[in-house]
Amino acid sequence: MNEHVICCQNLSKSFVQGELNVTVLKDVNLNLRKSECIAIVGASGTGKSTLLHLLGGLETPDTGVVHVNGQNLAQVTEAGLGRIRNKSLGFVYQFHHLLSEFTAIENVAMPLLIRKIPAQIAKEKSIEMLTRVGLEHRLQHKPGELSGGERQRAAIARAIVTEPDCILADEPTGNLDEKTANQVFNVLLELNQAMNISMIMVSHNTGLLKSFDKILTLHSGTLNESDRQSA
Ligand SMILES: Nc1ncnc2c1ncn2[C@@H]1O[C@H](COP(=O)(O)OP(=O)(O)OP(=O)(O)O)[C@@H](O)[C@H]1O
Ligand SMILES: [Mg+2]
Repeated sequence: MNEHVICCQNLSKSFVQGELNVTVLKDVNLNLRKSECIAIVGASGTGKSTLLHLLGGLETPDTGVVHVNGQNLAQVTEAGLGRIRNKSLGFVYQFHHLLSEFTAIENVAMPLLIRKIPAQIAKEKSIEMLTRVGLEHRLQHKPGELSGGERQRAAIARAIVTEPDCILADEPTGNLDEKTANQVFNVLLELNQAMNISMIMVSHNTGLLKSFDKILTLHSGTLNESDRQSA
């Protein structure tokens, strides 16, 4: 029994930088419950992206363990890790990473086609998700024909089309103006509530932080819960 979507214990990670071995994360512990929304804040270079990469199985920790839905990421095969990422996790980045030669529908359908879901069903599901994020009028547009906020909403639709248990979002509104950032953020919060998707989001936008269940600050390699006033 494990009620946590993601939990990690004693995660540490160092990188070699020139002649130095720099410890970025030291004994980091984090538990994410179903439907919970956690914000991670901290100065540039403190390891926020590194932490998300470790939680999503995109990098391996030097020490410590990550469990996603009770599965220890260190004990699954590369193919198993791919399945956990495709089934349980959705990733949203500061840059949208949509494929430029494909339409919004095709981009959003991609994770389902990778899962070998029939094309017609994948298409219907993509339209449903693009509609959820308010892009029902942009289905056939390619990324170059979308605004920054629309691209980011398409990227969110792609992250949720598989109905993941958790979204890992790394500054998803970082490239957007304040109004568009708020709209994109509200889309994520609505999805969190409507679809019970848990969320861990790295954000520098202090105006958005009040909406999170918990705010965690990374500083000198350690992660601590902040009170809302000081965050
Ligand atoms: N693959 C790598 N090789 C060497 N050093 C790395 C690597 N990835 C990250 N680092 C270093 O680890 C530290 C943390 O990087 P990270 O990208 O996690 O920071 P961050 O908190 O996300 O910063 P930002 O807010 O600027 O995005 C930085 O000093 C960075 O140079
Ligand atoms: Mg980062």
